[in-house]
Amino acid sequence: MAATLLPTLSPAVSRAATAFLVLRRAPPKPSHYLHTPSTLRRFLASSSATPSPALLPFSPMPSTAAARAVPARRDLLMLGIETSCDDTAAAVVRGDGEILSQVVSSQADLLARYGGVAPKMAEEAHALVIDQVVQKALDDAKLSGSDLSAVAVTIGPGLGLCLRVGVHKARQVAKAFGLPIVGVHHMEAHALVSRLVNKDLDFPFLALLISGGHNLLVLAHSLGQYIQLGTTIDDAIGEAYDKSARWLGLDMRKGGGPALEELALEGDPNAVKFRVPMRQHKDCNFSYAGLKTQVRLAIESKNICTDDIPILSASEEDRQSRADIAASFQRVAVLHLEERCQRAVEWALKIEPSIKYFVVSGGVASNKYVRTRLNHVAENNALQLVSPPPSLCTDNGVMIAWTGIEHFVAGRFEDPPAADEPDDMQYELRPRWPLGEEYSQGRSAARSLKTARVHQSLTSMIQGSLRK
Ligand code: KG4
Ligand code: ZN
Repeated sequence: MAATLLPTLSPAVSRAATAFLVLRRAPPKPSHYLHTPSTLRRFLASSSATPSPALLPFSPMPSTAAARAVPARRDLLMLGIETSCDDTAAAVVRGDGEILSQVVSSQADLLARYGGVAPKMAEEAHALVIDQVVQKALDDAKLSGSDLSAVAVTIGPGLGLCLRVGVHKARQVAKAFGLPIVGVHHMEAHALVSRLVNKDLDFPFLALLISGGHNLLVLAHSLGQYIQLGTTIDDAIGEAYDKSARWLGLDMRKGGGPALEELALEGDPNAVKFRVPMRQHKDCNFSYAGLKTQVRLAIESKNICTDDIPILSASEEDRQSRADIAASFQRVAVLHLEERCQRAVEWALKIEPSIKYFVVSGGVASNKYVRTRLNHVAENNALQLVSPPPSLCTDNGVMIAWTGIEHFVAGRFEDPPAADEPDDMQYELRPRWPLGEEYSQGRSAARSLKTARVHQSLTSMIQGSLRK
C-alpha cells in the first residue's frame, strides 16, 4: 500500500494554478465525427469477430470482466481521462464516435511562467482541477457516472506523478459506479483518434506522431500492434518549437508552438541557413537537439536581447530578425519530418503494400505549415493524409475515450475495482512505454536511443495476450 496519492497543495501553487487554469470547452461538434452505419458495421465486424483475451492494464491476473457481455457498440458511453503531461482533460464519447463532451484545463500559464513542465507542480495543478474537469465532462454530456459503460485513462507514457492523478480519479469513478477500466497508451490514442474523424480509415496505415515528448513513425498494423519505423534519438520536434519560441521572447501563454508558427508567417524561411539533421543516416529516426543549438547560436549572433525584450516591445528590425529565425527554423524542422516520412512511406509500403492512409497527429500536427508540407508527401505517394482537427491533435480526453472504446470492444479491459479497494492503492503506471516493436532496419546508427527503465511495448503485450 502506498502513501496517499493526492498531494497536499502548496498554497503558492494552488493560488497560481487557480488563477491561471482555464477550463476550455470544445467547439461545437462537426458532423464528420460520426461514423456512417455501414463503416461502423464493417468496423464492428472486423474488431469483434475474433475477440481477444483481456489486456490487463493494471494487474497481471486474467480479467473476469472480459468474459462479460459487452453492450452494443453504439450504446457504449466511455469517459476518457488524460493527465500524462500538462493538460488535464476529460471527455465522454459514444461508441459510434459521437463526442458528447470535451473539457481541457490547460497549464499553459504555469508553463510560461516556469519555462517547462515541472513534474511536482504539474501534478499539483492536475490534482487541483481533476474533479472539476471530470464533473464538467459528465455535466456537458448530460450524464451521471451511472450512465457510463466504462472509464478509459492514460497509464503511460508520461510523467509518473501526473499519470497517477488521472488513474486515481478513474479508479474512484469506476469504483463508485462499478465500471470496468481500460488503460490507454497515450501515443496509440493520438494515432487512433484519426479513426474517429475519418470513417474510412482502416488498418494498416502509416502514422507520424509528433508532440512535445515524442517523434514517432509507426506502421499501425492492427489495434494495439505497431511497428516502430523511427523515433527521436534526442528531442522531439515540439520541444524544439517550445525552446526556440522561448529564446525568441515569444508569448508562451498561447503555447510555444502556436506562437512560433504565428511569428514565422512574417519571416523569410531562407534567411538563416540551418542544417537539416541526420541526412547522412539513411533511416527514419529524428534528431532536434542540434537544430535547437543552431537556433540558439543564430539568436546570439544577431544580438537579439530576447531575455530583456519580449517580442511585443522589440524594434521593427529586431522583430524581423526574430521572424526570419522562426521561419527558417520551421522550414528546416519540417523538412526533417518530410525527408524521414518519405523514407518511412517507402519502408511501410514494402512491408504492407495495401496502405492507403498517412496519419499525422499529436500537438505539432495542429500546425498549418506542417500539415501542408506533409500533405505533399502523402500526395506524392498516392496516399491520403488524415490529420485530426487541432483540438483533437493536442492532448485531449476524446482520444483516450475513443481508444478505450476500441479496446473495450475487443474485450481488453479490467474488472471494476473492488468496493473495498483502499483510496491509497498503488497502481502500475508506465511512464516509459514504447508503442511498437522496433523495425530491425530502423535502428539508429547515430546514437543509442535511451532505453533505461522502459516497459515492454504495448505491441508485445498484446501479442503475448493473443498467444495465450
Ligand atoms: O500532443 P501534445 O498536446 O502533448 C504532448 O503529448 O506532448 O503536444 C504538445 C506539443 C508542444 O510542444 C506544443 O508546442 C506543440 O505540441 N504544438 C505546436 C503547435 N500546437 C502545439 N507546435 C507547432 N505548431 C503548433 N501550432
Ligand atoms: Zn500528447
